[in-house]
Amino acid sequence: MQILQSAPALQAQTEAWRQQGLRIGLVPTMGALHEGHLQLVRTAAAENDVVVASIFVNPTQFNNAEDFRLYPRLPEADAELLGPAGCTALFMPGVEQMYPTPAKLRFDFGALEHVMEGAFRPGHFNGVATVVSKLFHLARPHRAYFGQKDLQQVTIVRQMVADLSFDLEVVAFPTVREADGLAMSSRNRRLTPADRTRAPRLYQALELAAEQLRAGQSAAAARQAAIDYLAQEPAIQLEYLEVADAQTLQPAPTQPVAEQSLAICLAASLGDVRLIDNVVV
Ligand code: PAF
Repeated sequence: MQILQSAPALQAQTEAWRQQGLRIGLVPTMGALHEGHLQLVRTAAAENDVVVASIFVNPTQFNNAEDFRLYPRLPEADAELLGPAGCTALFMPGVEQMYPTPAKLRFDFGALEHVMEGAFRPGHFNGVATVVSKLFHLARPHRAYFGQKDLQQVTIVRQMVADLSFDLEVVAFPTVREADGLAMSSRNRRLTPADRTRAPRLYQALELAAEQLRAGQSAAAARQAAIDYLAQEPAIQLEYLEVADAQTLQPAPTQPVAEQSLAICLAASLGDVRLIDNVVV
C-alpha cells in the first residue's frame, strides 16, 4: 500500500490510474478505523480496480473544539489495517494540504441541514461538504463509499454530487454493529467501561420505535416510546430522537403513510462522548 501525503501526489496517482483505464474507489475517513470502515474498504476493493482511503480529521466539520482535540488519532494502527482490507493507497494529508488557504465557499443544503445534525452542529455539514468535495476533486473516484450510520451525511453528499454534477456513484453501506447492537464508531473507544455497557440502549430504543412503526403505530407514538425508554437511563443525555422521511429527513407525518420509508435517528451523549445512530424502516 502506498502512502500519499500531498494533494499533488494523490492527483498524479489517480490521474495515472485513470489513464490506464482503472476504476477508482474512494473511502473517506477520519481514521481510528473500525470494522465498519474496513467493510467499506473491502467492498470498494471488490467493486473497483484500485482503492484510495483517506484519513483526515477535518477541522472545519467540528463545531466543538474539545471534540476535535479529543477525536482519536491512530495513524500507524490504521495504516496496518488498510492494506490487508484491500486498500491500494492511503491519503493522509496535513491541514495545509487540504486547506492551503481557509475555505470561504459556503454550502447551503436548505431544509436538509435545518434538522438533526445540521440543527445541533451548526456548520458541520458545510465542513463535510467542503472536505468531501476537495477529496472528490483530488481523487476523482468512480465510486465513493460512506457508512449509513451517518445517514444525514450520506443524504447531503448525494445532494452535493447531484448539484455539482460530480461524475461518480455514492455507495452507502449498512451500519456495522457490535454483537450487543451498538453501532461501530471511532468515538466508542472513548466511552468509559460503565458507559460502554449503557450505550447499546441507543440501538434498543431505535429498535423499539421501529417495531412500533412496523406494527402500524404513528410516528409520534413510536418516537415517544423510544424517548421514554432512554429516559430510564439517566447517564444517557438525549439530544434529539426524530422519526423522519428517510429520503428528505424532514419530520414524518403524524399518521402512518403506506410505502413511506422512515428513518429513526438519534444523537445522545454518554459522559463527554456524543454518539449518533439510526434505523430505517
Ligand atoms: O464520516 C466521516 O468520517 C467524515 O465526515 C468524512 C466523510 C470522512 C468527511 O470528513
